[in-house]
Amino acid sequence: MADDKAILNLPGKEPIELTIKKGTLGQPVIDIQQLGQHGYFTFDPGFMSTAACESKITYIDGDKGILLHRGYLISELVEKADYLEVCYLLLNGELPNATQKANFIAKINQHSMVHEQLRSIFQGFPRSSHPMSIMCGAVGGLSAFYHDSLDINNPDHRNLAAIRLIAKLPTLAAMAYKYSIGQPYIYPLNTLSYAENFLNMMFALPANPDFRPDPLLSKAMDQIFILHADHEQNASTSTVRTAGSSAADPLACIAAGISALWGPAHGGANEAALNMLEQIGTEDNIAKYIARAKDKNDSFRLMGFGHRIYKNYDPRAAVMRKTCHDVLEHLNLLDDPIFKLAMKLEDIALHDPYFIEHKLYPNVDFYSGIVLRALGIPKNMYTVIFAVARTVGWIANWNEMLSTPPLRITRPRQLYTGYAQREFVPIKSR
Ligand code: ACO
Repeated sequence: MADDKAILNLPGKEPIELTIKKGTLGQPVIDIQQLGQHGYFTFDPGFMSTAACESKITYIDGDKGILLHRGYLISELVEKADYLEVCYLLLNGELPNATQKANFIAKINQHSMVHEQLRSIFQGFPRSSHPMSIMCGAVGGLSAFYHDSLDINNPDHRNLAAIRLIAKLPTLAAMAYKYSIGQPYIYPLNTLSYAENFLNMMFALPANPDFRPDPLLSKAMDQIFILHADHEQNASTSTVRTAGSSAADPLACIAAGISALWGPAHGGANEAALNMLEQIGTEDNIAKYIARAKDKNDSFRLMGFGHRIYKNYDPRAAVMRKTCHDVLEHLNLLDDPIFKLAMKLEDIALHDPYFIEHKLYPNVDFYSGIVLRALGIPKNMYTVIFAVARTVGWIANWNEMLSTPPLRITRPRQLYTGYAQREFVPIKSR
């Protein structure tokens, strides 16, 4: 079937025919790649109406609250798969069979340790560092150890980079935590699942070698990893693609993704949501903060509310909300004041006309912060955990970009509103 065409009429020009491309699902796109030749660019700060690439990995329908990874509903993946199965799916396009899964886990296990010399990178950071700053440095620093296997044109090297990153990120994340509290690093234990291993590296101590994470809490951790594994062309994934478009190595690209994730409008929202709950403090203060969130002259926002794409509800939040209840009940924390405050705030915001009109619903980070807090994880580690989980989405997108040539460097243009050319005035005459 022939593609539909859009006709663009520009002043003083013949009508320009633009191809309308349709994907499997979702909004069609108008292909404007040739528009520059006609003397015009499009203007779309924040990419409100721009599809920056073609992808087969993840699909989001924001109005209906649907999130699919390789065609599978996120709620089904959380219920029926574990994180490493989801990683395999995102990377390879299909769910693994039992042998493929066992081989994949074996490969991840083979790479779960980091080079001993990497420990000295940590020594250079103050103990009070935000662990995200350590992660930016340590993950970028990984490149230095693998010069011989970073040929981005070699599919085997690309796959190896993906395995290394998924395997090593939890180890580095737990090291960042242990470093901050002055405890010895705990080596990965490959007999444990991915989530159990992470919690073990976070909370085990050499003095207590029998420690093993609680199975329900490990399951909750695994769910947090799955829910954050990928999310289409979000700010950090787009950053990874942009860095990769210059043919930078994958480990450096992931360090770029970690930086983009850090901000409170993106992955930093889970930490910001908990900070906000602590700032609100008691239920009596909720009305005051809701009023501030609505005030256009006040920069305060309800953190953990709203999403660029989801305008009805965030399907990840629906899953996380249940996990949140399960974990708090399991730990006897349903009376925890911060949790009760969060539930009250959620209830008020969901019924307030401003939040209804602006289509602002709790997002996944509103609940994940509460779960992580219950797991005993400090706030400054929340975004680090998001980065661990999202690494697979970043690297799957990076690999997809490199596997589907031509690779074009990302190079947007601009609407220039500065001075036109003017004459230089010597300093004595200024
Ligand atoms: N609290 C109060 N008002 C809000 C909020 C909020 N959390 N979010 C948006 N609004 C209001 C804005 O003031 C604006 O109002 P106006 O139209 O009357 O001026 C309107 O809603 C639209 O806001 P935008 O910032 O234009 O919406 P956008 O789609 O660009 O932003 C974002 C989405 C960044 C997530 C925003 O909702 C936000 O800042 N939320 C809080 C931070 C957060 O939770 N981020 C996590 C996102 S999920 C993730 O990364 C996994």
